[in-house]
Amino acid sequence: MNRSLPSFPSYRPRRLRGSRGIRQLVSETALRRSDLIWPIFICEGRNLATDIQSMPGVRRLSIDLAVAEASNAAAMGIQCVALFPEVDIAKRTLDCREAWNPDSLINRTTRRIKAQLPDLLVMLDVAMDPYNLAGHDGLVVDGVIVNDPTLECLRKQAVSHAEAGADIIGPSDMMDGRVGAIRSALDECGFTDVSIMSYSAKFASAFYGPFRDAIGSEGLLTGDKKTYQLNPANADEACRMVARDIQEGADMVMVKPGMPYLDICRRVKSEFGFPTFAYQVSGEYAMLYALAEAGIVDLESVVMESLIAFRRAGCDGILTYFAPIAARMLRSYD
Ligand code: PBG
Repeated sequence: MNRSLPSFPSYRPRRLRGSRGIRQLVSETALRRSDLIWPIFICEGRNLATDIQSMPGVRRLSIDLAVAEASNAAAMGIQCVALFPEVDIAKRTLDCREAWNPDSLINRTTRRIKAQLPDLLVMLDVAMDPYNLAGHDGLVVDGVIVNDPTLECLRKQAVSHAEAGADIIGPSDMMDGRVGAIRSALDECGFTDVSIMSYSAKFASAFYGPFRDAIGSEGLLTGDKKTYQLNPANADEACRMVARDIQEGADMVMVKPGMPYLDICRRVKSEFGFPTFAYQVSGEYAMLYALAEAGIVDLESVVMESLIAFRRAGCDGILTYFAPIAARMLRSYD
């Protein structure tokens, strides 16, 4: 880049900020509705929407309401939803078998959405945390999160989700070897066109707290996830995880959380040039929402500023609970 700038008074950069039109003309990045992935929490029941204490403004939806909301989202220009189940405590077991039950809550939801909205992309998480009482993403044997036996569970779960119609599988578990294991399972079952968006640079973060409340795992988690999720201090290691996941067959990679890790987003995009996504997680949502509720900031303004920051940092898209708000705001733009 040419850094030798003309100097004042001939150079007056404010000329390019003087009106909305000129600002948009020289805008370097844009946010489109199609860049948004909307995470939705699903619960059992009919015509039921339950509040999530730590995520005001977000509710768990029964399947019928989720289909209706997904339909609204599609009409607003959102192309992809990510579904997360609140699994009955009675269905959480040591062996996590509900994770690959063809009739699990999340598989039933996916079938209904794909039947009614075939063009809407459905992304499903692959991990054990909604399915065991320890709240861990892997199988827990004698208090240890065991890597290799978990891979077999992930394979079965991924295939059951592909059979239900998932377009994108999102391994969020951080076990070693998962992407390769899932890719080969999908391929062996004929799902060569189902893609993988790997939670590659997933950090052990306190910003996930409200999510665990939303899926009913709050209070269940024994210990923490530091033996498998990344140390927030490590950027080189995050890049190694991205390289590994791409090598094992990830089509898209993700950085998570989002806002505290924009440096990682930029590095990942610059170093790998792969489709790169960020997850603006539950705690980030709750933080911005709480600030707005307290009258300290304007919600829509901070939402849009945070989302354009992801695009500027190199992300192709963003998973965000603000997707419907942002889509509504973007309606007049793209
Ligand atoms: C679990 C999973 C988590 C999130 C998505 N998938 C939580 C965790 O790793 O503990 C977090 C999403 C959010 O906080 O919004 N496999």
